[in-house]
Amino acid sequence: MGEMAQIILDGKTYEFPVIEGTEKEKAIDITKLRAESSYITIDNGFGNTGACTSAITFLDGEKGILRYRGIPIEQVTENLNFIETSYLLLHGELPSKEDLEKFTKSFIEQMPLHPDMLNFFEGYPKDGHPMGLLSAMVCSLSGYYPELLKPEPTQEEIKAMAAELLAKVATISAYTYRKSLGQELVGPEPDLSYVENFLHMMFSTKEKIYQIDPTVVSALEALLILHADHEQNCSTSTVRMVGSSWANLFASISAGVGALWGPLHGGANQKVVEMLEDIQKDGGCIDKFIARAKDPNDKYRLMGFGHRVYKNFDPRAKIIKKRLDDMFENLGITDPLLDVAVKLEKAVLKDDYFSQRKLYPNVDFYSGIIYKAIGIPTEMFPVMFAIGRMPGWIAHWKEMKGNSKSKICRPRQIYTGYTERDYVSMENR
Ligand code: SDX
Repeated sequence: MGEMAQIILDGKTYEFPVIEGTEKEKAIDITKLRAESSYITIDNGFGNTGACTSAITFLDGEKGILRYRGIPIEQVTENLNFIETSYLLLHGELPSKEDLEKFTKSFIEQMPLHPDMLNFFEGYPKDGHPMGLLSAMVCSLSGYYPELLKPEPTQEEIKAMAAELLAKVATISAYTYRKSLGQELVGPEPDLSYVENFLHMMFSTKEKIYQIDPTVVSALEALLILHADHEQNCSTSTVRMVGSSWANLFASISAGVGALWGPLHGGANQKVVEMLEDIQKDGGCIDKFIARAKDPNDKYRLMGFGHRVYKNFDPRAKIIKKRLDDMFENLGITDPLLDVAVKLEKAVLKDDYFSQRKLYPNVDFYSGIIYKAIGIPTEMFPVMFAIGRMPGWIAHWKEMKGNSKSKICRPRQIYTGYTERDYVSMENR
């Protein structure tokens, strides 16, 4: 019999098994708690609640560790491109040369959209937020590939849906941007890589082909890789939750896009740059903004700081800052927002309010400055996050579908409304 946890309720002792992961993390399995004691647990924001076991990504918030399928994120960003990282997350192993070539070919071949999908862009408001269109377009893929909608798809069908989604999300995103400018759409080229094609579709015109700079491609590859997965974050948990009802992959991912849109999650990278622009417009004085963030009566927060898991530093923020410095040096770029960001980071790291609450720069703090330098508009920043997170979302959906023990997610609650009372007719109200 393994380790057991004891809970004493109303004078009675209940025992529940303790499970341990490969990195020695431990959890109390309370599957039988309600049946045996009529009690449930409650955990606001699920900060102490494990929703599942998973073999995809490991985080250690205290040590600032992030590993994809066991490989440290530092080695992944140094040695893999985004497609290879997607393969690793989806299939659990690094691809052979032949597998990678086949996977890459399938990616690029499936980047073009079904011609009818182009009509969707016509109806969407030009200044509508691109995350709204991305979520709608991802869900609408279910209409074009009905053969992939079986509640229990085969591994091959999941592979086909994954390739569709990973390939098309870049095209949908680029087209969304082009439509917002009222520009004609430029399709993908078979001889360009995934990231090169994205830049080409975003910035080339019929008159002038975008000049692809390897420094920019490298920085964008690294950003997509760094966003590729992050275990049970809000949007990934949403994808798992929706998928647990046997909803198809397209519908599940579309819900994940919605969750990511929130400014406390994937929408933060857009809010960081808007915050830095506000500070700059206000003469660059950061004290007022820091004071607001510390004021318990003010809901204002410094976007790009803090994290539910990382209570030391977000390893991704360190890598992004290094990539940003390299790119700016190689391309001779300067940006006053970067000076504001560096000044803000320095002040925050010295301030007790933030250190006591273990608030450090997270993945979103510097990423927007790179996107901005590439020419990507702020409203597209959460879309960049979604493109990066796509392989992680799909890998988790696939892992959940492949786990015979997976059940439909249906949490309980503690009711705090009226106790029983009678109906009162209109004349007596
Ligand atoms: C992502 O989960 C993931 O893995 C997410 C992500 C991923 O890859 O999927 O890493 C991506 O979403 C990164 C986070 C991006 N969001 C932001 O940068 C928004 C700003 N940060 C926060 O709102 C906040 O830090 C969260 C949402 C990230 C985490 O919130 P928690 O864990 O629920 O922390 P909390 O709200 O309970 O805050 C604890 C304390 C509070 O103060 P007290 O009530 O104890 O006095 O810290 C304060 C908060 O007010 N606080 C902040 C703050 N973040 C927390 N105060 C000022 N500025 C901030 N940014």
